[in-house]
Amino acid sequence: MTSPQTDPRSLARALSNQNLIGGDLVPAASGRTFEVIDPATMSVIGEAPFSEQADVDAAVVAANAARHEWARTPATERGQMITECGRRLEEHADEMANLITLETGKAIRTESRIEANLLREVWEFHGGLGSELKGETIPYKPGMLPLTIREPLGVVGAIIPWNVPVYLMGLKICPALVAGNTVVLKSAEEAPLCILRAAQIMSEVLPPGVLNLLAGYGPECGAPIAAHPDVHKVSFTGSVAAGRSVYANAASHLAPVVLELGGKSPMIVYEDADLERAVAGAVTGMRFTRQGQSCSASSRMFVHASLHDEFIERMADAVDAMVMGDPFDEATDMGSIISPQQFETVNRYLSLARELPHATLRECSALPMDPRFADGLFVRPVILSGVTNDDIVCREEIFGPVASVISWTDEVSVLEQANDTEYGLCGTVWTRDIGRAMRAVERIDAGFVQINQNLVVQPGLPYGGFRNSGLGQEACREAMLEHCTKRKTIIINTE
Ligand code: NAI
Ligand code: MG
Repeated sequence: MTSPQTDPRSLARALSNQNLIGGDLVPAASGRTFEVIDPATMSVIGEAPFSEQADVDAAVVAANAARHEWARTPATERGQMITECGRRLEEHADEMANLITLETGKAIRTESRIEANLLREVWEFHGGLGSELKGETIPYKPGMLPLTIREPLGVVGAIIPWNVPVYLMGLKICPALVAGNTVVLKSAEEAPLCILRAAQIMSEVLPPGVLNLLAGYGPECGAPIAAHPDVHKVSFTGSVAAGRSVYANAASHLAPVVLELGGKSPMIVYEDADLERAVAGAVTGMRFTRQGQSCSASSRMFVHASLHDEFIERMADAVDAMVMGDPFDEATDMGSIISPQQFETVNRYLSLARELPHATLRECSALPMDPRFADGLFVRPVILSGVTNDDIVCREEIFGPVASVISWTDEVSVLEQANDTEYGLCGTVWTRDIGRAMRAVERIDAGFVQINQNLVVQPGLPYGGFRNSGLGQEACREAMLEHCTKRKTIIINTE
């Protein structure tokens, strides 16, 4: 299994029904499994262990058994191992991309291959942080020298979603590992196999028990990880509801958490914006190539009235030109929604939007004609206009290819509307006037705000949401220090 595998379907079968505990690939203690589907065709591609409390207990025991030796391994050596894992993941990039596409329905050219090719950067960035675990000395009183050192927390529980599965896996586990923690990772039930493959590749480099992986569902597997008294920190990415549950479970034993939750991020387009750039930014910002399944999606677009109609025309033209279909086809721009549950959710919001008398719903692109995809979970991308910020489609995270466009004329009011949301993850501002841009940036109550562009989370740049979008940050050196280590104060009496 160490050399790259080309056929994703046979690889998916070979990866079936395995957790990684203490370096061993094992099924769930109960023997229970669940099916893994290809959402573009709704065919079963494999199975995964239905992990429960007993499996969580075993993984936590393995992680605790490994943690002292891992903590004693020099940090730069840990970093080198993580960097080496990144190098090996890059060697398997084609295979990873194929698996991600098979499990998630994301298009290979526009999404999965890009994700797979970014992995090395994430692993390498965090590997390099091995030399950053520094403490401080503090000028204090004569005869005393206070200093601080950074120690690992112990076992970190990491719970990830399915939308950019392997990239987000890296952002969660690499900082924990380089800081000297061992990890119990839970993959999302929709995308367990690409994560298992990545963990398996990493386990060829890491000592046994340092990285443990469980497949399973939230209540049966995620909740017991967060609640486990021998898990010393929990890092979670997913929905607000599950995040609250993780926080409550972690509170039962006072474990700190990092929560990366949802968003309903504003994009504010001023009348002097470069329209062509803003439209291109709207298409990438809405993450249409990911079927809108992104926490950072610019799903509320506030466009100045003077540009509004042309903005919609041009965006609709751009999205119409995108091809929806076979996720493995190089010509495809957009694939399928992840799961029947998400498909239903997105369609429910579209029905609600259709009932709004003031809304105009513009469906773009076209469903795939190929009968192989007749049962696939495809949703045409939608541009909603005429809506207000109070409409349910502008208040709740749809996590689908649905962009709401709201026309505005008054700057004060548009900035108020931008913040009139329970979320605070991202925001973008589009103008050629730096004064305006900075006024808006200062007002937007969100953790990641960009001017005239719309990137996703980047290794090296602090990332995290405010309010219901989460707690804590990740992806940067400071977050690794703050959330993956504890600081011990030592005072030496020098007299
Ligand atoms: P979810 O939050 O239920 O699942 C994400 C992960 O959390 C999965 O690994 C799941 O097994 C786990 N989980 C679920 N409940 C848990 C619990 N009580 N304790 C511990 N772990 C738990 O998200 P789902 O069902 O996939 O999507 C629902 C909505 O969540 C989406 O429509 C979207 O709004 C949001 N979401 C946000 C993501 C983000 O990147 N911030 C990613 C995925 C979903
Ligand atoms: Mg869920």
